[in-house]
Amino acid sequence: MPRNLLFAVLQADSSPLKRIRNDKCYWMMTTQDTYALAESAAAFLLSQTSLRPKIGLVLGSGLGAFADDLTEATRIPYAQIPSFPRSTAVGHAGQMVIGKAGGIAVAAMQGRVHLYEGYAAVKVAFPTRVLGRMGIRALILTNAAGGINTQFKQGALVVISDHINLQGQNPLVGANDERFGARFPDMTQVYSKPYREIALQAARKLGKTVHQGVYAGLLGPSYETPAEIRYLRTIGADLVGMSTIPEAIAARHMGIKILAISCVTNMAAGILDQPLNHEEVLETGRRVQGDFVALLNAVLPEIAKDVA
Ligand code: HPA
Repeated sequence: MPRNLLFAVLQADSSPLKRIRNDKCYWMMTTQDTYALAESAAAFLLSQTSLRPKIGLVLGSGLGAFADDLTEATRIPYAQIPSFPRSTAVGHAGQMVIGKAGGIAVAAMQGRVHLYEGYAAVKVAFPTRVLGRMGIRALILTNAAGGINTQFKQGALVVISDHINLQGQNPLVGANDERFGARFPDMTQVYSKPYREIALQAARKLGKTVHQGVYAGLLGPSYETPAEIRYLRTIGADLVGMSTIPEAIAARHMGIKILAISCVTNMAAGILDQPLNHEEVLETGRRVQGDFVALLNAVLPEIAKDVA
């Protein structure tokens, strides 16, 4: 079927396909040239600053403070960046901050979009594509997560060693663009082992305990049931969350090295005899901000050496 005819059918249709059609950007990004859109968003961002960062950060729920302290900072709301999705999640500022941390240029995203907001995976991964086209070679992904491993306590920082994608979606679905990467990217080491070592060593130097663990990504937005948490523990998950995986897959596809750190904002459902709520997630994030920012500042010089 010709594309314009199929588009007309989608527009006229009131079936479940409407959901896809409503996310107009999904349509645009699967039929238009995502690469070209990422290039123009990257060019726009670079036109706003003279800095040329090689390190990108995505700051998750309640973890945005790192970007507040950047020097020589340019702050660009997502709404101003061409083709960029806007975050609707509470606790996400929704802006890109390009600035310096201890003399190192970084592009820090204060807030991200999630699959549960209704964005297709290709759209959730779009900011990662843009960071890649800006010249980012190392990406630090952060998130709030529920602790499944009972050795973790609320407020713990955990370096992600691997993930289990239970989101039912993948940003690489659709025609592959070789300019981004290979059709079937290797996933044996998504989270760079040397970067994990850097983070663990930096934590030791700071006198902080930082664990490692496997992150299970679910679609959300409802939290898990206790039975789901028991299942996740059985299959080898230490953490559970609703983000990070689309960005990690897209970054891996582009050959960008990844460090991912979770903040255990709550113990996962059923571990403690109490209900979960988003306010608690944000509150714990705020409580550990200091440790979190210190850890990021400690790893940055080492990662900067790697991408120099
Ligand atoms: N489950 C899923 N996502 C989360 C949680 C959780 O318990 N805490 C923070 N993000």
